[in-house]
Amino acid sequence: MLNKQDNDMMCRTGREAPMGQAMRRFWLPVIQSSDLPAPGGDQKPVELLGEKFVVWRDQQGRPGLFADACLHRGASMSLARAEPDGLRCIYHGWKFAVDGVVLETPNVSDARFKERIKGRTYPVRESGGLLWAYLGPKESQPEFPAWPFMAVDDAHRINAVAVANCNYVQVIEGLVDSSHLTVLHASGLAKTNGADIDFAKKTTHMQFDASPVIESDETDFGFHYVALRPSGAKRMARIASFIAPCFVANPNGDLWFAVVPVNDERCNFYHVWWNPQKPIGTEPLRTQQLAFVGLDESSLARHGMTAETCDTPAAMSQANRYGQDRSQLRAGHFTGIHSFTQEDAACSISSGAIRDRSQELLCTADGAITRLYRTLLACARGVRDGKPLPGLSPEVGRVVGTSAELSTDQDWRTLVPHHRVVSSAAVAKSH
Ligand code: FES
Ligand SMILES: [Fe+2]
Repeated sequence: MLNKQDNDMMCRTGREAPMGQAMRRFWLPVIQSSDLPAPGGDQKPVELLGEKFVVWRDQQGRPGLFADACLHRGASMSLARAEPDGLRCIYHGWKFAVDGVVLETPNVSDARFKERIKGRTYPVRESGGLLWAYLGPKESQPEFPAWPFMAVDDAHRINAVAVANCNYVQVIEGLVDSSHLTVLHASGLAKTNGADIDFAKKTTHMQFDASPVIESDETDFGFHYVALRPSGAKRMARIASFIAPCFVANPNGDLWFAVVPVNDERCNFYHVWWNPQKPIGTEPLRTQQLAFVGLDESSLARHGMTAETCDTPAAMSQANRYGQDRSQLRAGHFTGIHSFTQEDAACSISSGAIRDRSQELLCTADGAITRLYRTLLACARGVRDGKPLPGLSPEVGRVVGTSAELSTDQDWRTLVPHHRVVSSAAVAKSH
């Protein structure tokens, strides 16, 4: 439970908000590489943390992220002419390269004027099928993290993104909440029996226990969270990692998520699967996997979960009952909702654009939810009070989730060697 003040501090990510400033200390995904314009093509408007930008590739293929407002007098760069070496604002013709070099200022007679100014562009990197940007102060720019999926080539990776019309924290809550899996996704999981898809095989055992024992430990990157279920004489441990400020490594060790605020009431939910041994990014494996979880293009578009459809009547709302088909529900499907992705989204979105956490009643299954609140608030307060933030070490790239059977006397922490517990005293101090 959180009061309104703390809830706002955790959820709001505009430039002035403490959590917005914390988010701007990290490298964040902006868009999938596959959604970037072709070299020299038309720039594309994007929104991130409540700010407007355009993304573009120049003729050489170099990606760039520009503030939407032109450096000169603020005309939108989405109107700019795309020229081979830069974007030229149509108002007075100032031209900017992707790295911020000002190439021309035709309404200024001093030819050296342009050398004294810098375009409003941001540092970007392209890796793991994503374009990443750093939006924070130059002096605080962290090393670019090497996440494990960045080491495999496109054929061994699946990238997908869903747009969710709710605050980013609601989507992350679903990712650190093992106890909803066997309920909300009961019908989907039932279909996994015998299905020849990696994800299906790895989740089959969860169908048999809806109330796992939940434990979590705060770490230097965020927290580890384990769901323990009996498995014969042993216990099955599924350990997920939350990495500040908005990344989750799932317990299968092959799936990573980023939940990046578009603004306070919408987020981009990135999924990356990777498999160094198997070319999962090739067809038909890629489409099979995406369709199975409801992340294929047509399922997303039908539910208003793409950049093109999230403002159309297809978007989940009370008016369309968040995509729920009551006749299917009556016929035996547990939710009457299309698939995993849409079931999660319906629950997240239906609790309001920014959920009121002064009205919730958390239970023992929600240990990781409380951890999440504490970690995010520690980020927001940390940046406000000039304290170090969790998750900024380049070592975060080594953090992955894992699943394994434990013998009766084995501690789950031994399964995650990068696990470094932050002492409770240190945590208390940061609050
Ligand atoms: S506003 Fe862009 S060149 Fe003047
Ligand atoms: Fe879910």
